[in-house]
Amino acid sequence: MKYDVTSDINRDYFRSKLLQYTRKAFKMLPELQKPRILDIGCGTGVVTLELARLSNGRVVGIDTDQAALDKLNVKIEQAGLLNRIKTLNCSMRDMRFPDGSFDIIWSEGAIFVIGFEEALNEWRRFIRPEGYLVLHARLGSIEQRVAMIPTLEYRFIDKFVVPKDAWWDDYYGPLERLIEGLRHKYRNDPKAQVILDKAQTEVDEFKSKPEFHGSVFYVMRRTSGG
Ligand SMILES: C[S@@+](CC[C@H](N)C(=O)[O-])C[C@H]1O[C@@H](n2cnc3c(N)ncnc32)[C@H](O)[C@@H]1O
Repeated sequence: MKYDVTSDINRDYFRSKLLQYTRKAFKMLPELQKPRILDIGCGTGVVTLELARLSNGRVVGIDTDQAALDKLNVKIEQAGLLNRIKTLNCSMRDMRFPDGSFDIIWSEGAIFVIGFEEALNEWRRFIRPEGYLVLHARLGSIEQRVAMIPTLEYRFIDKFVVPKDAWWDDYYGPLERLIEGLRHKYRNDPKAQVILDKAQTEVDEFKSKPEFHGSVFYVMRRTSGG
């Protein structure tokens, strides 16, 4: 039998346990008919697929990691959603969509790449006037960010904190236990051990950084001007 440590580390399974928060944020939006949604930093698309299921709209997922997009493309086909989800290898810093292309921009776990303020500023023009922006970000100065929202031509709708232990209980804890199990399975495979070391480093980083424990959803609406 051929083993593949990368596919054994099935993060999507753990990530999907946190989709309850994606659903909670989605419910904060009014019902939109066939919304055009952009998912920025979609990765392997656990959230992208859920956005397509939650809406009756079309979703574009962008990311710079082609391997992740390839995995997502397979899942889109398997889910029969080829007509509603498209992927694009494109940086969030270099998006070329026409102004007002989307009813909703959604981004989970990716705005650390450019920062909260820059994301609001740079992405505004791609949202149609009165369209929505939903961000899932690491803990940080929540009140400062909420105060910043109206200064950047958005109206704050709501926010909520993902419980402090959710990322450990649902994602990093099970990932660490999985890594421990795979150490034995791949005990004679040095290359696999390097991949497991890398995954363990990510778990250790999580443990050492309190700002990773818990995260925040921000839901806002682009104002009609600007
Ligand atoms: C922590 S993952 C989040 C994936 C997914 N949104 C989720 O919540 O499960 C962050 C993603 O941002 C992507 N990313 C990093 N820099 C990027 C950039 N400049 N433009 C677009 N995506 C980027 C990474 O490749 C990665 O897939």
